[in-house]
Amino acid sequence: MIDQAENLRKIIHNNNQLNHETPKIRSARVITITSGKGGVGKSNVAVNLAVQLRKLGKRVVIIDADFGLANIEVILGIVPKYTFSDVMNGEKIITEIMTEGPMNIKFISGGSGVQDLIRLNEKQLSYFIKNLYLLDKMTDIILIDTGAGLTDAVLSFSRAADEIVLVTTPEPTSITDAYALVKTLSTQKRESLPNIKLLVNRVEDEEEGREIYFKLKQVSKRFLDVEIEELGYIPYDKALVKSVKLQEPVSLSFPKSEASKAFENISSRIINIDAANRGGLGFTSFVKRLMNLFNS
Ligand SMILES: Nc1ncnc2c1ncn2[C@@H]1O[C@H](COP(=O)(O)OP(=O)(O)O)[C@@H](O)[C@H]1O
Ligand SMILES: [Mg+2]
Repeated sequence: MIDQAENLRKIIHNNNQLNHETPKIRSARVITITSGKGGVGKSNVAVNLAVQLRKLGKRVVIIDADFGLANIEVILGIVPKYTFSDVMNGEKIITEIMTEGPMNIKFISGGSGVQDLIRLNEKQLSYFIKNLYLLDKMTDIILIDTGAGLTDAVLSFSRAADEIVLVTTPEPTSITDAYALVKTLSTQKRESLPNIKLLVNRVEDEEEGREIYFKLKQVSKRFLDVEIEELGYIPYDKALVKSVKLQEPVSLSFPKSEASKAFENISSRIINIDAANRGGLGFTSFVKRLMNLFNS
């Protein structure tokens, strides 16, 4: 049997259709999951949206960009051998650094981070970009799980994003930190401002979530002239706490739980929003924007 990785390696090295100026290749939709404050549920949002989007037939890749902390890995109970760094230094191709999670969800560990990107020489960069095109081609939705807070890395990931899922809980500090993140993003040029969708996690009921959404939407509009969309609400659910201990997404351990149903609704909404919009710009374009931010 011909080694599939070897085959893909040949494609990357030889096929000039994957030349990095080729604009016609369809691109994955890149959704960056972020928050002002830590511990609000980002990683759980990432894995559960991945499960639900898989159930809806989408090909999903999760990228862990919370450098240093093995978040998603713990929730999915997997141990990746390689990271993006192995592609950047030319030793692996993109498919070789993917770890297979439940339901064929692919997982990529970010590795030592975006800082590596600016150290690449032209040849390495071209190789890396070709790999990104391949990732774009073989994926429908890429979910990026970022760290929390107004750190350079998180801000750059949010700025380069095309679409952000901003996660908050009803806790006042979590809400003010979410606002602080929106405020920092609002200094960006309007045309490069990512589309921001709010997800309120750990709510008592939908009413509570909706109130938080309207408040944040209003202040962001009035003081920052930034529009925030409503993505939805996830209830506080003991099933989710249990599932974290089982190292499994709640959507798989307890598919009938309230939290799982909420993730299911939100995933359908994400797909419906896509149908109404133009689709994704792709991961390749995301990384290029990211590099511009680091070089400026
Ligand atoms: N909807 C929820 N219901 C109950 N507990 C939750 C919920 N979402 C998150 N948690 C709790 O919060 C913890 C942190 O979640 P996590 O996804 O790791 O946050 P983050 O990635 O933002 O740091 C989880 O381990 C879980 O105990
Ligand atoms: Mg996390």
